[in-house]
Amino acid sequence: TLTVHSDPERLRAVTRALRGAGRKVVLVPTMGALHAGHRELIRHARQVPGAVVPVVSIFVNPLQFGANEDLSRYPRPLEADLDACREEGVELVFTPDVDTMYPPGSDTRITAGPLGAELEGGSRPGHFDGVLTVVAKLFHIVGPDVAIFGQKDFQQLALVTKMVRDLDFPLDVVGVPTVREEDGLARSSRNVYLSAADRERAVILSLALREGAAVSAHGAAAVLERAEKVLAEDPDLAVDYLELRDAETLGAPRPGQQARLLVAGRFGTTRLIDNVAVQL
Ligand code: PAJ
Repeated sequence: TLTVHSDPERLRAVTRALRGAGRKVVLVPTMGALHAGHRELIRHARQVPGAVVPVVSIFVNPLQFGANEDLSRYPRPLEADLDACREEGVELVFTPDVDTMYPPGSDTRITAGPLGAELEGGSRPGHFDGVLTVVAKLFHIVGPDVAIFGQKDFQQLALVTKMVRDLDFPLDVVGVPTVREEDGLARSSRNVYLSAADRERAVILSLALREGAAVSAHGAAAVLERAEKVLAEDPDLAVDYLELRDAETLGAPRPGQQARLLVAGRFGTTRLIDNVAVQL
């Protein structure tokens, strides 16, 4: 059965007791508006070996939204989210208030470093400092043995993995492949913002990535050229970036290594991101 906690101290006491009883605490951090992608993360959480306690946090973190972003209109369908958690066998849900997470004077931040200013960070200054700060807080409150993140947000996954290493958090980070709509569009809570026409056009992002990845035998330049050409077919798409990076470090891609092709673009005011694996 599902128990919902909004008080960090209560949640901490519960997970501590469960861990003491030999259970393995597995955390799936989310901002709610749960869809098939989040559900896939929960399924991976439950498949971690051991007597798993699947924990989902639902918190729309104001710290990671820019001034002109969609914080106020971000969807918050809590009852539907709790139903989804029940259906997926989640045991604990953590739903803290903003005032509890960030009381007045709570000024300390995690800084993501240079990678935090690139790719998504180039378009969204401070975004990853906000993400890492809330994720660090969630890790301290929940005390997970394992934390599950989606490859959909590949740079976020890389930065959280790096933070755990850099700051010695005692847990494992697991990445889960992106769940897609039938036409290839990556599932996202933000897809609901798309008009019907833009929803149809949005397939071009995943298409460009797939076509780029398909010519990887011809090298990095060919991959980028191919993907760029596909994206250029839609004049209504404003591309923020299309980049090929090393899959491990997100630094420059290296021949013979796993790379990642990452894209961000806007249809009107709706910003979408996606990425795929590329073997160089
Ligand atoms: P949110 O956008 O709700 O995503 C929660 C988790 O679900 C993230 O790890 C994200 O990568 C994963 N996810 C989203 N769409 C997915 C898809 N189509 N396939 C697979 N996984 C998917 O990411 C955040 O929230 C926040 O930044 C958070 C980490 C909770 C910190 O506030």
